[in-house]
Amino acid sequence: MTYDTRYPSIADLKIRAKRRIPNFAFDYVDGGIDQEHGKRRNREDWHKVQMTPRYLLDVSSADLSTTIFDQTYSMPFGVPPVGLGNMMWPAAEIALATAAQKNNIPYMLSTLSTTLLEDIAEVAPDVCWFQLYVPQDIDVMKDILSRAKNSGYKVLVVTLDIPVGAKRNREIKNGLKLPFSITPNMIWQSMIHPQWAINTVINGRPDFVNVLRYKTTPNQGLSEFLTSFNMQGVTRERIEIIRNLWDGPVVLKGVQYESDMLAAIDIGIDGVVISNHGGRQLDAAPSTMQSLTQLSKYSSEKMTIMIDSGIRTGMDVVRAKALGAQMAFSGRSFFWGMGALGAAGGEQVIAIYKDEIDRTLKQLGCGAFKTMDDSWLA
Ligand SMILES: Cc1cc2nc3c(=O)[nH]c(=O)nc-3n(C[C@H](O)[C@H](O)[C@H](O)COP(=O)(O)O)c2cc1C
Repeated sequence: MTYDTRYPSIADLKIRAKRRIPNFAFDYVDGGIDQEHGKRRNREDWHKVQMTPRYLLDVSSADLSTTIFDQTYSMPFGVPPVGLGNMMWPAAEIALATAAQKNNIPYMLSTLSTTLLEDIAEVAPDVCWFQLYVPQDIDVMKDILSRAKNSGYKVLVVTLDIPVGAKRNREIKNGLKLPFSITPNMIWQSMIHPQWAINTVINGRPDFVNVLRYKTTPNQGLSEFLTSFNMQGVTRERIEIIRNLWDGPVVLKGVQYESDMLAAIDIGIDGVVISNHGGRQLDAAPSTMQSLTQLSKYSSEKMTIMIDSGIRTGMDVVRAKALGAQMAFSGRSFFWGMGALGAAGGEQVIAIYKDEIDRTLKQLGCGAFKTMDDSWLA
């Protein structure tokens, strides 16, 4: 698998994405919460993980595959849920799901995606996972779950870490709010990014197509609808109901605290994504690298630990495995790829990570990702 050598790293894709798309779209993806300390901490802590290489070994090939919930993926890296994905680049969600299917890596679709869950399942039938923002209304929740199940989603991922709406200063300053209203800045930004603007006109304004059908009060604003739609603080009781309803693996996303991990194990949850939403919800939250070091002891045949937030290189994915995570995800990497290269962006991101994971394993003297463990930590 080759990639466009003008953009050999995720950092290079980010630079190009910033040039090619309007600032309100770039800031929506790039921004963290409050002062963005948590976002920075995520990144800095991955750099701190040192590993010692071993030589005098044959590393002519390295096996990148990983098996999760009885399915083998070609590499230990996937696409996490990103709401409003088609704003970063028009039709980004279909393009990324298609690239994930082709390369056999997991693709998580957000409840707040801008493509119908049924359409994503058609292009990514073997690798699609569904991410649920838990609706307050239990009948609505059951309807979404049955739509996801009937469409063939493999894994259900329940996000825990938005008990309250986020205050993101960049979005406020850019005038990005619901319902979308066109500000002079947006008109200007669209004019100076014509390729993005033309594609957006062709594809239509991004909308929350999976949930809008549940808006039954005609005069209710979009923002009020979404606030009333989501459960403000997902309870253990609700997770138990979901566990009983979903016939298949259930994953909790946003776990950082020991009692949440213990509850997940107790309820019979199959996996967790240690995540702080990429530093977008609580600026004081610990880095996920730090949480992983505290929670990895709970990894078992029944509990699969995965991670995201601040992952930007294949070496970070290997670091995460040495610390105990079977699979890693990065939202911003994929959406910078889309912003930089349009429909080709997903393949480019996958190729970069694949190459970097392969090289890191070989450099460390490890012939298979599955065997990477804490004995490599310096
Ligand atoms: C623009 C944006 C939108 C997101 N939307 C969702 C979402 O709808 N559901 C969800 O569970 N997580 C969402 N996340 C969090 C990601 O799934 C993931 O946890 C995060 O991107 C990981 O951090 P990273 O971007 O630093 O790799 C979003 C993240 C970003 C950047």
